[in-house]
Amino acid sequence: MPTSQGLLYARHVEDRCAQLDRLLGELGYDTLLIHSGRPEMRLFDDQAPPFRAHAAFVSWVPQPFAEDCLLELRAGRKPRLWFHQPRDYWHVAPEPPASWWAETLDVAIVKTAAEWESCFRQQTALAVIGRERDLGTLLQGADLNPAALVAGLSEMRTTKTAWERECMSQANDIAAAAHLAAAAAFEADASELEIHLAYLAAAGQDQDHLPYNSIVALNENGAVLHYQHRSARRPEQMLSFLIDAGADRHGYAADITRTWTQPENRDFDDLIEAMDRAQLRLCDQVRAGVSFIDLHRQAHLAVAAVLEQAELVNMSPDAMVESGVSSYFFPHGLGHFIGAQVHDVAGQVDAKGRALPPPEAYPFLRLTRDLAPGNVLTIEPGLYFIPMLLDQLKASGFSDKINWPQVHRLQPFGGVRIEDDVLVTEGDAVNFTRQAFARLEG
Ligand code: GLY
Ligand code: MN
Ligand code: MN
Repeated sequence: MPTSQGLLYARHVEDRCAQLDRLLGELGYDTLLIHSGRPEMRLFDDQAPPFRAHAAFVSWVPQPFAEDCLLELRAGRKPRLWFHQPRDYWHVAPEPPASWWAETLDVAIVKTAAEWESCFRQQTALAVIGRERDLGTLLQGADLNPAALVAGLSEMRTTKTAWERECMSQANDIAAAAHLAAAAAFEADASELEIHLAYLAAAGQDQDHLPYNSIVALNENGAVLHYQHRSARRPEQMLSFLIDAGADRHGYAADITRTWTQPENRDFDDLIEAMDRAQLRLCDQVRAGVSFIDLHRQAHLAVAAVLEQAELVNMSPDAMVESGVSSYFFPHGLGHFIGAQVHDVAGQVDAKGRALPPPEAYPFLRLTRDLAPGNVLTIEPGLYFIPMLLDQLKASGFSDKINWPQVHRLQPFGGVRIEDDVLVTEGDAVNFTRQAFARLEG
């Protein structure tokens, strides 16, 4: 009896096969081969960064860490997976395929990648997804990563199947529990490194298995948007804590940010509360047909309203957004698609693959589409005190509108970001992240 997990996965593959058959027909290909990837050693070194399979592969096969596998897709045929299980006494060999997913595919276990190389020789109209350095010598007339096919495959991934939604909901459950463990470690005055380790232990996932490098930032480090260190030193004063960390479920990502402080830090606590309310109102606006560029502008208005209410900036929200002053405090995009990649594909093209560049005022906006049912995306407004941008603001014509004493008082707290993963529907969005936290609160 297939498990419900197995059933969801089987339907996912069935749906994707139907879509792919149409796409291959339109583009005139008989067969598509998708490589999972191969670790790449550092230059003049025998060490490689942690391996993760290409998301184009993971969106078909729930094996995000499987090296050198090949998926063979032909119209009307069960997908065939050439599953690489090397004889290797240096490493643990990959687990044999579990029946819940392997039954949906035609799995052939191979001991060396050379055993699937014949796939490249038998076709006339063959397309391949992979890297030139891994497959280049095999191509012999096959098309590697043809743009129209890559665009079609990416477009398919913008509408998440029930299987993918379930994976992402479960990834949020894992990450939310780990966020609470991290918050408890912050309460106990732990260092960034200690908090990070508490997060990993609660998630039951090592950093190499997470979908992105966790951002674990105490105090002013919260103002570094992609803060990459985890200091082992406990700061003298624990003012604030920003954590942006996710989890993996069968290759699908959660991407969650929370910001914490102690209640006695009244002004910063109020700022977190205000940003949380603003973030929830933005989530409420997520639905089919909404332009994400418009929603990003709404986010600027919302952050500007927080800045005005907190008496940090003496301008109306409209004037702050119009003049660009809000961008000094909120200098990144409101969100992005998420799926088998944390920043998932096709955020800046329309359904026909035509480019949708971000507006000039918001060059870092990764998602510029109108939202459609089945899209999953993040909503992550932020408000930061970033020294470099504050210097620029001071030198701008708006310096006299800024309550500098209060800005400088809050600067050691870094900043606030609140980030959830939400599913677009025709009605209210489904907020995987808030649901996960609510389940934990019982
Ligand atoms: N964690 C990266 C991001 O929020 O986009
Ligand atoms: Mn994000
Ligand atoms: Mn994030």
